[in-house]
Amino acid sequence: MANQFVLDTNIVLDFLLARQQVNPFYKDVPRFILKQQPFLIAAHQLATIEYVFFREIKLLGLEQRDEPKKLWSLFQKNVQLIKTPTFIDWEHPLAQHDIEDYQIHLAAERINAKIITRDINFADLSSICISPIHFIQQSASLPQSAIHIPFLDLKAINNQYSTEFEQAIDRTLNSGWYILGNEVKQFEQAFAHFCGTKHCIGVANGLDALILIIRAYKELGIFQDGDEIIVPANTYIASILAISENRLTPVLVEPDINTYNINPALIEEKITDKTRAILVVHLYGQVTAMTEINTLAKKYNLKVIEDSAQAHGAVYQDKRTGNLGDASGFSFYPGKNLGALGDGGAVTTNDDQLAGVIRALGNYGSHKKYENLYQGINSRLDEIQAALLIVKLKFLDSETEKRREIADYYLQNIKNNEIVLPTVINRESHVWHLFVIRTQERDKLQKYLSDNGVQTLIHYPIPPHQQRAYNHWNDLNYPITELIHQQVLSLPISPVQDMTATQKVVAKINDFN
Ligand SMILES: Cc1ncc(COP(=O)(O)O)c(C=O)c1O
Repeated sequence: MANQFVLDTNIVLDFLLARQQVNPFYKDVPRFILKQQPFLIAAHQLATIEYVFFREIKLLGLEQRDEPKKLWSLFQKNVQLIKTPTFIDWEHPLAQHDIEDYQIHLAAERINAKIITRDINFADLSSICISPIHFIQQSASLPQSAIHIPFLDLKAINNQYSTEFEQAIDRTLNSGWYILGNEVKQFEQAFAHFCGTKHCIGVANGLDALILIIRAYKELGIFQDGDEIIVPANTYIASILAISENRLTPVLVEPDINTYNINPALIEEKITDKTRAILVVHLYGQVTAMTEINTLAKKYNLKVIEDSAQAHGAVYQDKRTGNLGDASGFSFYPGKNLGALGDGGAVTTNDDQLAGVIRALGNYGSHKKYENLYQGINSRLDEIQAALLIVKLKFLDSETEKRREIADYYLQNIKNNEIVLPTVINRESHVWHLFVIRTQERDKLQKYLSDNGVQTLIHYPIPPHQQRAYNHWNDLNYPITELIHQQVLSLPISPVQDMTATQKVVAKINDFN
């Protein structure tokens, strides 16, 4: 993300009032700024700017004219308020000199921004100030090679919603109710509606969501210790941990080399009289072949559990993940497509009884205050995270569309014989949590991209069966899973990644040999 700049009140007024004599750059600075961001000003500056602008317009006798009104509405469209912190250190030299400047300084400091000002005294007292001429010079001479493309700019993703977040946090703070209150209830309703399910139960994280589903089936007498659950060998380890944590046995099945998801054709041979469920993982954001899975489940009377941690909103035959099996676990870990500002998770299901047991299990096993049906745990989504997730859920589909546009571009434009691109079943079925390519030269490619300013990650470097945590599996062979782990590389993709960055990634990959 490029540097951010907060405009001092004088710079905004120079622009609005065309004060050329005092600021020869009165037009140039705003023009440069608007190329990369809206005008950022601290909330407390707005009233002063408005007051001075309209006072000057009146003094000039221009209040009846259309131009000032048009200019003001242009300003309204292009301004973004950032928060003025309420903490004040009265001993600070700036606070003693000019309280308005001090508050601008605090507001800018909070988001690591610089301040553009032509006030020399302000610049003397704040190390983050920059003059208009310096700003113009710096912007003009910014070297292209300095561009860095992060794998995932979480700060930029969340900053899009800073105003709504502020409202959500203030609402929660003011409610005086911080656990299992209205925010969680509202979010659960909204997320169930989004997935198309009857129930959504907020929990503390994605791993707990899966653990609690299995635990609930045990409480209902459907699963028992030592029963088996089919699970992909190629997954993030949490899917498997949820099974072993419940003292059931994970039975690993190799993936389809094209989709990286569990290969349904290899499941039947692994089914025994102890098999109770198939836990599918919609890896990287693409839905598993659910028709085959549900057919098998029906044939052998198995439960189907979805691990939807990476696939919020993906669609399979007109239904979304979370609604494609008996129950589904979601993660709202910050880096997920629907990410909180901390841990969070949820279970979705259409099964009333299961939902009731999960809700109780996550709340000490209590269905009613101070009455405990089960030996439960404490695993709840908290009010603040729920309030933030309500905001982000509204934008999830449009964020997914941005991910799809980047993926489309990668798919159409990456042309390098060394590289295997992901296979997409159809556009709707993939939400591109990760855009994962494969190459025999993975480590070389990763280093080359890093040297060229492109950050990539590996999902995942060590397969679950080769982890020390499961040392009894270490001698087993899952060749497709192992090959995937040796060759995959995840390219930058996110709803805030712009076309220039995407094009640069493609150009660099196409030049790789
Ligand atoms: C496939 C998968 N399952 C489960 C989880 C666990 O989610 P959480 O980190 O919220 O516990 C994750 C994410 O980390 C995941 O990617």
